[in-house]
Amino acid sequence: MLCVHGCLVGWILLAVLVPGHQYQRLNSKPNSHSNPGLRSDCLGNVMRITLDKDLAVGSQLEIEAINGSDIIQLSSTLAAQCGYSMESDPWGNTKIFASLSGCYVFNQADATFQLGLRLRMYGDNLPQPVEYEVTKMCSYSPWASREVLCDRNYMEVSTLMVPTVTPVKAFKGHRFQQESLSNAIPDAISAPNSIWKMAFHTPEMKVMVLEDFLISGYGAMTTPKRLVLRSPYNMPETYSEEVAGVPMEVFSVSTYYKEISGLTVMDSVAACPTGGVLFTDEAITWHVPRRVSPLISGSVKILETHMGIDGQRLDKAKMSARHYRLSVTSTHVVIEIPVGSPDGYYKSHALNEEYHVTFTIEPMLEFVWKADNTQADTRYKVLFPITTPMMLRPPQVIDYTIPEQKVFDVLLGPFLHDVELLNFNFSVGVLTVAESNSRGFDVQEHRFANGSKTFSLRVPFSDEVVQKHNPDPLTTSYFLLMVFGLLILPEQTPFQYLAEVEASLEDVVIPTITGTCDQKNFYASVKYGSGGANFQTMLLNAGSWRELDSDLAKLYHLTENSTHFSIIVPHLSPDSTFEVVHSNSILARLELLLVQIPNMWKLNDFSLACFFPLTTTECYSNGTMTALAVKVESVGNLNPEHLTLRDQSCKPAFSSDRFALFSFNLNSCGTTRTFFDNLMVYENEIAMHRSTSKQSSADPEYRHIVSCYYLTNDTKTMDFLTTPRINDPIADPGVGHLVVQMTLSKDASYDAFYQTEDYPVVKYLREPLYFEVALMQSTDSQIQLVLENCWATLHDDRTSVPSWDLIVDSCENLDDRYLTVFHPVSADARIQVPSHVKHFSIKMFTFTRDETVVKGQVFVHCEAVLCDTTKPDGICSGQCANPQRNANPSRPTSTKRGRRAAEAGQQQKRQVSSGLILLSDSSNETI
Ligand SMILES: *[C@@H]1O[C@H](CO)[C@@H](O)[C@H](O)[C@H]1NC(C)=O
Ligand SMILES: *[C@@H]1O[C@H](CO)[C@@H](O)[C@H](O)[C@H]1NC(C)=O
Ligand SMILES: *[C@@H]1O[C@H](CO)[C@@H](O)[C@H](O)[C@H]1NC(C)=O
Ligand SMILES: *[C@@H]1O[C@H](CO)[C@@H](O)[C@H](O)[C@H]1NC(C)=O
Ligand SMILES: *[C@@H]1O[C@H](CO)[C@@H](O)[C@H](O)[C@H]1NC(C)=O
Ligand SMILES: *[C@@H]1O[C@H](CO)[C@@H](O)[C@H](O)[C@H]1NC(C)=O
Repeated sequence: MLCVHGCLVGWILLAVLVPGHQYQRLNSKPNSHSNPGLRSDCLGNVMRITLDKDLAVGSQLEIEAINGSDIIQLSSTLAAQCGYSMESDPWGNTKIFASLSGCYVFNQADATFQLGLRLRMYGDNLPQPVEYEVTKMCSYSPWASREVLCDRNYMEVSTLMVPTVTPVKAFKGHRFQQESLSNAIPDAISAPNSIWKMAFHTPEMKVMVLEDFLISGYGAMTTPKRLVLRSPYNMPETYSEEVAGVPMEVFSVSTYYKEISGLTVMDSVAACPTGGVLFTDEAITWHVPRRVSPLISGSVKILETHMGIDGQRLDKAKMSARHYRLSVTSTHVVIEIPVGSPDGYYKSHALNEEYHVTFTIEPMLEFVWKADNTQADTRYKVLFPITTPMMLRPPQVIDYTIPEQKVFDVLLGPFLHDVELLNFNFSVGVLTVAESNSRGFDVQEHRFANGSKTFSLRVPFSDEVVQKHNPDPLTTSYFLLMVFGLLILPEQTPFQYLAEVEASLEDVVIPTITGTCDQKNFYASVKYGSGGANFQTMLLNAGSWRELDSDLAKLYHLTENSTHFSIIVPHLSPDSTFEVVHSNSILARLELLLVQIPNMWKLNDFSLACFFPLTTTECYSNGTMTALAVKVESVGNLNPEHLTLRDQSCKPAFSSDRFALFSFNLNSCGTTRTFFDNLMVYENEIAMHRSTSKQSSADPEYRHIVSCYYLTNDTKTMDFLTTPRINDPIADPGVGHLVVQMTLSKDASYDAFYQTEDYPVVKYLREPLYFEVALMQSTDSQIQLVLENCWATLHDDRTSVPSWDLIVDSCENLDDRYLTVFHPVSADARIQVPSHVKHFSIKMFTFTRDETVVKGQVFVHCEAVLCDTTKPDGICSGQCANPQRNANPSRPTSTKRGRRAAEAGQQQKRQVSSGLILLSDSSNETI
């Protein structure tokens, strides 16, 4: 858009609201000479009055002309008709131009000119108008024959009236006869200023009397020597014409006026440019036709050219300092002005929410030419305010953020001086600049020397307005979205600028896990990382992960504080994974996994394996064995319920998804028994067989050998574990007791026995004593009990002397006068395995020393051997199967007992003793 004269919107200033204190200071009527804010200048044929913005108050400015005692208010039409123009920039800086040929200017001999103006400012906030009065005197001389003045709102031509004029003048093909006109309109003589009537050339002729001319808005007057005519732009009687490519408005009039010498016709033409400006971002180029052809009929010579700003001519030095250029080509006079020159001003605009600027400057072109034929000179002066089109100036966001400092550092700009930062619209809402600063953001305005400004903002990453997310487990991305709320002054036009900045930092501290075990539980503690408790905890359960939900948290006694949580997981809980089972321990593992939500990234994992005590096999002395089969993780498809012993009809007494408990008698369920040198081993196998496969029994998927082994003295358990993976059987025997018991029957029927409380038992001399020695509880029919040695002692110490052999090397002592007798044993309700039991009897006797009865009491002791009936050998061939018939009659001695005891130590022997047997007082027989 080309904006020249048409841009003057009105005569009334609509602008500035200025704080009241300035108004207070100015409410007086300051003398124009003493007030630097109000200046007046004489600029050739115009006078300029400037009012500084600091003096502009209120919202309206009216200008009144002072003509003697008359005060005439200048409306915009009257101003254009009378040679006044006014323009204010957005801040209230005001220029008033007055033509020296204008109305209300006191003209002395076309040489000095005096003007008085009154400036009145009104506003809603002003109790009464503020007024300034300016009076100025200017001298201007000499005038050119013709002076054409183009101001923003009018075209003016002032022509020297030549005293002797040719009565008839050729003018564009029209001829007028002086006499005939004078005769036709007799009252022309008495018209004001002696002007009678005007004829417009539009280009058609249109005639008006002076009164109509003035009423139509045109200006006409005579001065001592000159005729001045004036027209606003775009009047019905003016017309447009393009001259050398430049649009121009032409005002062309022939004036009839009365002189002493008679009626004279004078032709006046003003032609003013309304265009001819080219813009680039850097420069304004203004073309004016070199030959303003409506004003010129013959050839002319340019005498002077001047460039000025705001009506004021500039000298060469000033022009070059400002990089202005004035050049004359064959067709044009050209003025070049850099955009941004200090003589103009920038203005901000928000157009479609986008930031634009315009630049406004008012150059002046003045040139003088002389017509070759008439030697008449013409001064041609154009005051030409130019505003560039809207120039898009999107501000830049410069991101100075250094992520490590954890603060967003953003700069927005540049903006012109007329832009203010009001507020920010953040994700949490709108914060003013003051609120932002008190929240800890650092908002600053930075000004450049040229008046431009930028705004900087620092926002800590930690603030709520910064959004955070994690692109990967270790990185946090910080994102700040803000809308700068800006305001263009003085018109208070709001506009917004949206900016986004993002920064990434590897600042995630991941949670860590520690743990310990005791004999029963795992103890795990999780220390939160930078994300706090914002993660999910998973537990490895049967090979897959499950979330530690509130139920599990309760089950595992979860405790937490602001930085940690801990759980206690029992070693046999479902979330414990069994790795290996040994006979008395289990290696179990707890696994935890921490995952980030919502991305489900693995943050950390933790695995803790501990041995916990666990008895899997127990061997009881009554011949029962219990064995616990545990499903370990290497046999994931194992179903404990389907485990069996060798005899596949022997199923678990109890089973769950991870355990099977077997309880069985050692002579059942396919249990095998093996004798080694000094052990007896029972063995069975827990296995799972593929029920459908024919090869199942040959190749079970799972094998677990369980065994119990017995020493003569002790019952030992041994547990062999074999699984497909672990080839390393681990044996760790447990201890039990094999019970061999000696009892004294009340008679030969072996039906009733003396009990512990019956001792000491009292017997008559030579009364038979019926002994039973039995392996208790065991039901293994392949064991035979053989009595190797039995002897009697006076004292309860079995090794004491004196002693007397009753059975030697499994046979009766042949030396014994009171012969020991073996009695057969047969099965009955009480005796299930006869080979486990031996019956023998002796006759009650008494020890003597030197033929006297030492003491009427006896203890009987036996050494019993447990034999494998499948391997009969030596003693184990049977009770007195190979009698040696030792004929040695000597009394048993402690030496002999000791030797035998030593020999017995090599074998699987069990020693039993009777309680005290007393000799009845009624008997006195000795052996
Ligand atoms: C200004 O005042 C003078 C005399 O005081 C008068 O002759 C003249 O017509 C006035 N001008 C206007 C335009 O009123
Ligand atoms: C702030 O921005 C949000 C989202 O862009 C918008 O919905 C809201 O209207 C804005 N608030 C103001 C006061 O501009
Ligand atoms: C003012 O100066 C700054 C910095 O030199 C520059 O970025 C900006 O464009 C200038 N503004 C104008 C309006 O020339
Ligand atoms: C939280 O508990 C952990 C141990 O579980 C302890 O080390 C830490 O000091 C506790 N922190 C607070 C703030 O109580
Ligand atoms: C063997 O003894 C164990 C442990 O005392 C007991 O649980 C089991 O029932 C007994 N077995 C028989 C067959 O008596
Ligand atoms: C029998 O066991 C006891 C105690 O366990 C032990 O002191 C003794 O030596 C053992 N005897 C034999 C013959 O093994």
